[in-house]
Amino acid sequence: MNYWHKPMKTGPRIITVANQKGGVGKTTTAINLATALAAIGERVLIVDLDPQGNASTGLGIDRKDRTVSSYDVLTGELELEAAAVPTAVPGLSIVPSTLDLLGIEMEIASAPDRVLRLRNALRAAAERSAPFGYVLIDCPPSLNLLTLNSMAAAIRFWSRCNASFSRSKVSASCSKLSSRCGARSTRISPSRALC
Ligand SMILES: Nc1ncnc2c1ncn2[C@@H]1O[C@H](COP(=O)(O)OP(=O)(O)OP(=O)(O)O)[C@@H](O)[C@H]1O
Ligand SMILES: [Mg+2]
Repeated sequence: MNYWHKPMKTGPRIITVANQKGGVGKTTTAINLATALAAIGERVLIVDLDPQGNASTGLGIDRKDRTVSSYDVLTGELELEAAAVPTAVPGLSIVPSTLDLLGIEMEIASAPDRVLRLRNALRAAAERSAPFGYVLIDCPPSLNLLTLNSMAAAIRFWSRCNASFSRSKVSASCSKLSSRCGARSTRISPSRALC
C-alpha cells in the first residue's frame, strides 16, 4: 500500500513523540513542550494515543471523567474537536486516551485506511478551521498501529532516548532506532523530518 500523501498546505504543525522503548520521557516531552507552546500564546492540542493515558492523567483528566477519547476519533465516531477537552493550562487541550485503545488494532486491522485514521481526522479538522496551531501526539512504547497513525499524521517525528547508558551505547541505540522508525516513517510520508 502506498501511504504517500501531500503535506497539508494549511493547518497545525503536527509533532509526534515516539519510541518503542518505555519510560524514556515521551509523555514528559509532549506535556512540557505543549505547555511551553501554550505559554507563549499558541493554541495547542495533545492527542493521547497511549492506552496507559499518562498524558491525560498528567494534565489532570481523571479516568472517570474521560467521556470522549482518541479511540472515538480513530473509530470515526467523533470529530477531533469534539473529542478535545480543555486542561488547566490556558490554550492547551487534550484528546484523552482510554483503555478502549487496547482493542483498536483488532478493530481496524482490516480497514484500508487503518494507518491514516488520525491523519484524516486532523485534515478534516483543519478544513473546518479547528483553532490549533500545534498538535503533539503522545505514543505508546511500541511501533504498533497507533504509532504508525501518529507517523502518518505528523510533519515531525521526535524519538526520545534515555541517556542512562554509556554515551556510545546511547548513540548506537538511538541511531538504530532512528533508522528503523525513519524507514517506516519515510514509507508513510517521504517529506517528514526526524528530530
Ligand atoms: N529529561 C528527563 N530527565 C530525567 N527524568 C525524566 C526526564 N524525562 C522524563 N523523566 C522521568 O522518566 C519517567 C518516565 O517518563 P515518561 O512517562 O515521560 O516516559 P514515557 O517514555 O512516556 O514512558 P512510557 O513509554 O511508559 O509511556 C518519569 O518518572 C519522568 O518523570
Ligand atoms: Mg508515556
